[in-house]
Amino acid sequence: MRGTPGCCTGLQHDDISTTFTRKFLLQDRYAKVKNENSARIHRTGVAAVSLIFMLAGISSALAEGSIEAGKSKSVACAACHGQDGNSINAEWPVLAGQHANYIVNALKTFKTGERNNPLMSGQAAMLTEQDMNDLAAYFSAQTPAGGTADAALAVSGERLYRGGNPKTGVSACAACHGPTGTGNGPAGYPRLAGQHAAYTTAQLNAFRSGQRKTDASQMMRNIAALMTDEEIKAVASYIQGLR
Ligand code: HEC
Ligand code: HEC
Repeated sequence: MRGTPGCCTGLQHDDISTTFTRKFLLQDRYAKVKNENSARIHRTGVAAVSLIFMLAGISSALAEGSIEAGKSKSVACAACHGQDGNSINAEWPVLAGQHANYIVNALKTFKTGERNNPLMSGQAAMLTEQDMNDLAAYFSAQTPAGGTADAALAVSGERLYRGGNPKTGVSACAACHGPTGTGNGPAGYPRLAGQHAAYTTAQLNAFRSGQRKTDASQMMRNIAALMTDEEIKAVASYIQGLR
């Protein structure tokens, strides 16, 4: 601007630059206030988030199951699943040693009707979330009795369990359920080791036909769909003998 004819004398320039400086100072102050505000908002946000985590901590502490309470509540389940979660009837699953979160989730799906069974659905319908947590704590803390595999099926069952069937694309069960069938609690992969072969067979058939739909991302339905009756029979027997 300096030197523009008829416009800016030195004085005028000084005036203009003072105005500019003042404007910048003002902007600077405004930015500072804005920063302080956003810092305050940020602090409030952090406080709110930590409060949410604290509350979640409290509710999960409340929701945590009690083995003692679960034991007394399990009287209703003992007729079918056995007092210590080792059922005698091969059609009724062993619950002893099963991951607590898997048990809770299974009970929830029976309660909502997503998983349907005439014997179980009525049982689950009456349970509160606290009951489920207590029962799950109790059964997961019990020791599975373990079973034995049919020697005639064990070899092909083990081959499928450990390596899948590369020809048809059946995945190795061990990849998710673990080499010894202990499963993975946090991932939602149930323990299989020692489960009754008849129950395992029934579940694999239910996944294969799509009757059981409780598996996230159709993980089990996709696998069971590729399995033959012989493979199901063999792997179920091998699983029964896993310890
Ligand atoms: C009248 C027999 C009976 C009673 C009583 C019973 N259940 Fe069951 N339960 C079954 C049957 C049968 C199944 C298998 C259902 C299926 O095929 O989907 C089952 C399945 C389950 C499963 C799923 C297991 C898995 O590996 O996916 C859980 C968990 C369970 N029951 C918990 C309980 C609890 C807790 C009680 C007591 C409140 C109870 N059951 C009472 C018969 C019973
Ligand atoms: C990609 C991971 C994955 C692989 C591989 C896998 N499973 Fe599973 N399986 C799961 C999950 C997840 C569930 C639980 C589904 C649910 O909650 O309903 C499950 C559930 C099951 C159940 C039901 C257990 C019960 O107590 O009701 C059986 C039986 C089973 N799988 C057998 C097998 C066999 C046999 C193989 C190998 C041929 C296999 N799975 C491979 C993830 C897997």
